[in-house]
Amino acid sequence: MSESTHKILLIGVAGFIGSSTALRLLAGGHQVRILDSFDPQIHGEDLKKSATLRKVWEGAEVQVGDARDPVAVDRALRGVDTVYYFAAGTGTGQSMYQVRQYTDVNVNAAAVLAEQLIQKKAEIQRVVVSSSRAVYGEGAYRCAQHGPVFPKTRSVDAMQQGRFEPVCPVCGLAVEAAASSEGDPVQPTSIYGITKYAQEQVVLNLCAAMGITAVALRYQNVFGPGQSLRNPYTGILSIFSQLLLEKRQINVFEDGLATRDFVYIDDVVEFNLRAGLHAVAGGSVLNVGTGKRQTLLDVVAALADAYGREADFKVSGQFRIGDIRHAAADGTNLREVLGGHAFVGFGQGIKAFAGWVQSEETDRALAQGYLRSLTEMSASGLLKGAR
Ligand SMILES: NC(=O)c1ccc[n+]([C@@H]2O[C@H](COP(=O)([O-])OP(=O)(O)OC[C@H]3O[C@@H](n4cnc5c(N)ncnc54)[C@H](O)[C@@H]3O)[C@@H](O)[C@H]2O)c1
Repeated sequence: MSESTHKILLIGVAGFIGSSTALRLLAGGHQVRILDSFDPQIHGEDLKKSATLRKVWEGAEVQVGDARDPVAVDRALRGVDTVYYFAAGTGTGQSMYQVRQYTDVNVNAAAVLAEQLIQKKAEIQRVVVSSSRAVYGEGAYRCAQHGPVFPKTRSVDAMQQGRFEPVCPVCGLAVEAAASSEGDPVQPTSIYGITKYAQEQVVLNLCAAMGITAVALRYQNVFGPGQSLRNPYTGILSIFSQLLLEKRQINVFEDGLATRDFVYIDDVVEFNLRAGLHAVAGGSVLNVGTGKRQTLLDVVAALADAYGREADFKVSGQFRIGDIRHAAADGTNLREVLGGHAFVGFGQGIKAFAGWVQSEETDRALAQGYLRSLTEMSASGLLKGAR
């Protein structure tokens, strides 16, 4: 495929990762069409507030529609050769009580795309689907006695007693966190993770059957300029930023030592472009992450430093059912299939993110919405604390 001649549809593109990817594709001279329902939980009511979205709007053909609507997807796919599929509900905690909504958006929409691909198999050459590290659940660990192990969901009883680390599923002793590889067992701990796996597999399975090259990218925690400053259900960097800037106390869950692999938006966009436009074998599933871990306390400290503020935080011992303890990507396959890349460092990324947040009109409703989301979780019995 020549890079200059692609007609590309991006579904769920008005969000964080999609809009940044669309901008890079537009800059590369591709013809870009976008389909999005413009979910107000993510975008607020005033879509034109986002500078990235305004630029996408100027350069792309915009279609407003729901990814679950076969008529909208059929119209959007016409004349297209490459599809990026980002649309999803993305709140891990929210997925645990809005189970039908998450299943509907994340799985049924993938089924709609799959059925439409059958009709358009002669035209579509490549599909890139956004998946998540959530499919691994607690992920990979190493036990001194039993080698590589994959602990299942952590025990609520243990967490209520302040024991947050997963244990060896064979001997019950302490284990050391390791990076997750694509061949590791799939054992999601949240409805979000379950639906992301189903979404990924529906697309990969159908594309394989139709002879369409498909790539699923399992992102770790993506961050950077452009992430939603309005969605209270996902994105701790936005939520912590808002609390810090409003001088409100940050509730740090567990003991503050849970870790995540934060991958900067520009790095994710780079791999999205490579997955969509470079030669790859069909049916690839690839992790996208740096392989490095930051604790929640590291995150609070880095944000406080970037904003030049003292952080008011409390390590509360509270925990959300469905959350995992540690995450990091093994990037061996990513490098082999899509090539090497120097990732933006966490500190550098945080500085760029904080600079962007301060240049944006932030939304005081975010902190309020976040507190409401915790009340919703608590009412559903999904936010717990020490007994
Ligand atoms: N941001 C991360 O850290 C991260 C990590 C792992 C995986 N992912 C995956 O990457 C993808 C993009 O994530 P993001 O952070 O950009 O999310 P986002 O919430 O910013 O954007 C999602 C977009 O999908 C749209 N959408 C939702 N439901 C829709 C529907 N029914 N029809 C049409 N459009 C719909 C929303 O309006 C929004 O524009 C998602 O599939 C997500 O699961 C994200």
